[in-house]
Amino acid sequence: MNPWAIRSFWLAAILLMSAGWAQQRVNVLCSPDLAWCEALVPAFRQATGIELRFVRLSSGEALARLRAEAQRPQFDVWFGGTGDPHLIAFREGLTEFYRPRAWNDLREDLRQAVGETYIPLYTGAIGFVVNTQVLQRRGLPEPKRWTDLADPRYKGLIAMPDPNTSGTGYTILATLIQIYGEEQAFRLLAQIHRNIAQYTRSGSAPGQLAGRGDVAIAVQFAHDGVKFAQEGFPLKVYFPLEGTGYEIGGLSLIKGAPNREAAIRFIEWALTPEAQSIAAKVGSLQIQSNKKTPIPPNSPRLASITLIKYDFAKFGSSEVRDRVVGRWTKEIFPQPR
Ligand code: F6P
Repeated sequence: MNPWAIRSFWLAAILLMSAGWAQQRVNVLCSPDLAWCEALVPAFRQATGIELRFVRLSSGEALARLRAEAQRPQFDVWFGGTGDPHLIAFREGLTEFYRPRAWNDLREDLRQAVGETYIPLYTGAIGFVVNTQVLQRRGLPEPKRWTDLADPRYKGLIAMPDPNTSGTGYTILATLIQIYGEEQAFRLLAQIHRNIAQYTRSGSAPGQLAGRGDVAIAVQFAHDGVKFAQEGFPLKVYFPLEGTGYEIGGLSLIKGAPNREAAIRFIEWALTPEAQSIAAKVGSLQIQSNKKTPIPPNSPRLASITLIKYDFAKFGSSEVRDRVVGRWTKEIFPQPR
């Protein structure tokens, strides 16, 4: 071949390859804060040329969607959301374990806790997100313990997420069961229920209600509370003295992903410190799983919080989740408030 023909050949090959990547797409089921999901789109396109489309669903809704689409998966990757439903999805054969190149760079405690089921993406703990102005106006103290939430003086002043739709809501339910045992936890939940103004669909919504002063106390992930406080709302974050539960947020490859190759490129990219640092830039303050990703100064540090020994294997089982969420839905939710 003459040099001109060789050059033309390579030019055509490069054009074809880039056209191939440009056509590539990844469909992401995205469960963290919407701003983080949105920020992934241009950053991933810039890094790889691959188009990212996402649907934002809370963790429980995302699990329901994956179950419904089991025979014909529409999504390639599930990004974020609490870990229990990721583990359930793996055990139900809806996702498959993919070992990323960065596996050894991920925090060891998180890797050990989940085993080779899903990829740890971040971690964070449940707290009380409190509008101190509302409490002061009413002359009420800040809640210090889980049992304080049952105080009738807080009637109509508490919001928490619904454990059916929200992974945060399920983490709260699982936490109380682990601290008090199931029977006592349900008695406490029934008392807290009388004080609830609203059960929200997503995990971060209670903090928005507290920020606006619609309620005084939001039970949710502490990092979401710090985010809203950073945005200027009069909120303070506390951790219950009895101890609290935490999440190991997940990243999973969907089994039978229609765009498997692009899905794997997304997973590899999403675990780089550069990609993980996007979270803090849009106010998502979880501690990211890659040890090389800087921890934002305002992120609640797990080492300074009394954490329970969260039983991920137990609460990441379909049987336990379906049973305790079903019980809450039947016994607690319909009671008068
Ligand atoms: O808003 C971020 C976040 O709190 C994550 O840390 C968590 O994994 C996710 O939301 C859970 O959302 P939901 O409770 O709506 O499933």
